[in-house]
Order: sequence, then C-alpha cells, then structure tokens
Amino acid sequence: MAELCVNIDHVATIRQARRTFEPDPVFAATIVHLAGAHGITIHLREDRRHINDRDLRLIRDICQIKLNLEMAATDEMTNIACEVIPDQITLVPEGRQEITTEGGLDVDADQGSIRRTIDAAKEIGIETSLFIDPVKKQIDAAKQIGADAVEMHTGNYANAHGLAEQAHELEIVAEACAYADNIGLDVYAGHGLTYYNVAPVAGIGDIQELNIGHSIIARAVFVGLDKAVREMLALIRRAYSTPS
Ligand code: PXP
Repeated sequence: MAELCVNIDHVATIRQARRTFEPDPVFAATIVHLAGAHGITIHLREDRRHINDRDLRLIRDICQIKLNLEMAATDEMTNIACEVIPDQITLVPEGRQEITTEGGLDVDADQGSIRRTIDAAKEIGIETSLFIDPVKKQIDAAKQIGADAVEMHTGNYANAHGLAEQAHELEIVAEACAYADNIGLDVYAGHGLTYYNVAPVAGIGDIQELNIGHSIIARAVFVGLDKAVREMLALIRRAYSTPS
C-alpha cells in the first residue's frame, strides 16, 4: 500500500492570512501523526509565504513519523536542510508568482544546483526525491544525478477533462512509475489528488508514497483533520486491496 504523507502547508497559509499564531501547523503535525499518516510534508518557500523556519524546526523536533521537506535547490535551503535534517527532501521548482508548484523539475537541464543539493543531503543521510513530470528523460536524469526517489507529478491526471483523458494521463503516470521502479528509484506521486481521484493512482502498485495536501486540509475545515486523514487513508487502503 502506498504510504500517505500529508502536506500541511495550508494550515500555515490560514495562519498567515492574519499573521497570527493560529492555526499552528505544529498542532496539525501531531493530529496527522495520531490519525495514522506515515509522514508530514512541508514546503519551506524562499518567500516564507506559509511554513516558516520556526515551524520547520518545531515539527522536526516533535515529528516521529517521516518528515519530508519540499524545497528549491538553493544554497539557502540546502544549508537549512543540512542543519535541521528532515528524513527526506523533495526538490521542487519554485516561482514567486505561482499559487502552488506548477510543474516538475527540469532535472535534465539543471544539473548543477540539483546535484549540489543532492550531494550535500546524501552526505548526512537525508533521502532525496525529485518532483518531476512523468517523462522518461526526467526519470533517467534523476537516476543519473543520484536521487534516491522521484515524485511523479500527477497534475495532468488531476486536471484531465473526461474519462478518456483521465485514463490516458493515468496510463502515462503508471508507465513512468514502472520505468522508475525498474531502474531502481523509489517512486512517489502527488499534486492535485483528491478524495474523488486518488483511488486509481493509489492502485498503481509501484507507488510507495502519496503526497496530498490541499484536498485533505480543505476537507478538514468541515470534518476535522483527524477524520480527513483517516478517510484518505481508507481510500488508499481500499484501492490497494482492490486494484482495478
Ligand atoms: N507534491 C509536491 C511536490 C507539491 O509541491 C505539492 C503541493 O505543495 C503536493 C505534492 C501536494 O499537492 P496538493 O496540495 O495538490 O495535494
């Protein structure tokens, strides 16, 4: 079964809407843990628009499940990661104007900064994952550059219109996952996954971990974070035990 890492950035986004102390993403991390998720994902952005350095340090201190830090491959973020030592870093492209991460890394084109960050992280035992589009060229580049894992961008699948387009995009993700697994990379996936579209992706046997944020935090507003996490875990578990 794919493990679930819950991205709690949006809890900090609500806090930052008023620049106050609540809701505290540190509280969210404990609830996510108690609800049975396998990991916490947070994205420390250059502009600190939601998660900040204090959140990262406190969550690192209290987090007993996997802590996955999403970050850009910059010197600043690499230094922070090497100091705080999350279990895993996921390198993502970052644009100041974007609402959320918009696409996968171009690993093939930008080997300098990505390689430096991977080398620094590996030296101190941090697992490294690259967020990429489900494209063979990027998977090969990730392997070649020494990443431990790739996170397949499921955005095209999530945004597909109609069943045929969705099935096509799912096939692209599934084939990319099989290819990455075959060349020895750990395989994760995420972006745009919801309670309504997660099952087919969770049914892809090669995927070891799903990163899901927006949909879980959105549901948590109405049903509470504990229930929202448990409901997502149940869908992933069901998809695994009854693959299509
Ligand atoms: N994976 C990566 C690399 C991301 O940047 C994000 C968004 O922060 C997610 C997964 C989660 O996406 P969503 O919030 O759409 O579930």
